[in-house]
Amino acid sequence: MTITIAAVEVHKRFGGVLALRDVSISVAEGQVVGLIGPNGSGKSTLLNVMAGVERPTAGRVVLDGKRVDGLPAHRIVERGVAKTHQIPRPFLGMTTEDNVTVAALYGSWKVRDAGAAREQARKVLNLIGLDGQADALAASLTVQTRKRLEFGRAIATGARILLLDEIFAGLSPDELREAIRLFTHVQEEIGFGALVVEHVMPAVLTISEHVVVIEEGRKIAAGTPSEVVRDPNVIEAYLGTEAARAAT
Ligand SMILES: Nc1ncnc2c1ncn2[C@@H]1O[C@H](COP(=O)(O)OP(=O)(O)OP(=O)(O)O)[C@@H](O)[C@H]1O
Ligand SMILES: [Mg+2]
Repeated sequence: MTITIAAVEVHKRFGGVLALRDVSISVAEGQVVGLIGPNGSGKSTLLNVMAGVERPTAGRVVLDGKRVDGLPAHRIVERGVAKTHQIPRPFLGMTTEDNVTVAALYGSWKVRDAGAAREQARKVLNLIGLDGQADALAASLTVQTRKRLEFGRAIATGARILLLDEIFAGLSPDELREAIRLFTHVQEEIGFGALVVEHVMPAVLTISEHVVVIEEGRKIAAGTPSEVVRDPNVIEAYLGTEAARAAT
């Protein structure tokens, strides 16, 4: 049976800031959904609410038909949903392989044997092309490689749905093409579902079958990639952002 995670009519308030206003979104195993929006529009907050890192102020998160908002993050990981951090947080004093091994021990596979976890970690490193850096200390990795490691750690938990926060940010055009190719290969290989957050549009539009756009905490559009790029609300949100950027 495939699993689905859904945020339903979620609101999230931080003091005076209403970071999410009535946002609903769902992702099924095997499906890639993009979530885009300008800086500060609430993308990371929505992932945090779905991953159990933050509690919604109102609304609910439903995983496989059961309410999971209010559960701590590690319980959600055990149920097969793993999130990457927008700013990677590996254990800096540990090697790449050890970092992935810890994720395998902690996740939904319930691997409790260190040898089996290490074997799992090696498979994942191979799949994501980090096997050559297995013995490097995480502290020595570039930001981009740390992002790839973060992706590997999420996969190694055995997650059937990944919540990915800007894993493609800051790449050159060549690196981006390579990262998209790798992502698609790994996704087809494992068949996980993914909610992919980016504020760079091209990557998301290429890999997603469905795209949701938020602005200032509100869902302003949803549809196929070609539908959302033609949506007047989306064009205005993005042109507005670009114009504001150009003016600063
Ligand atoms: N822990 C927090 N405490 C207070 N305010 C927060 C917190 N987390 C997020 N916010 C606020 O909520 C709003 C949404 O932030 P969020 O990080 O979700 O945006 P984002 O779309 O991920 O932005 P970016 O593209 O810059 O990563 C912002 O106004 C932000 O300042
Ligand atoms: Mg963010």
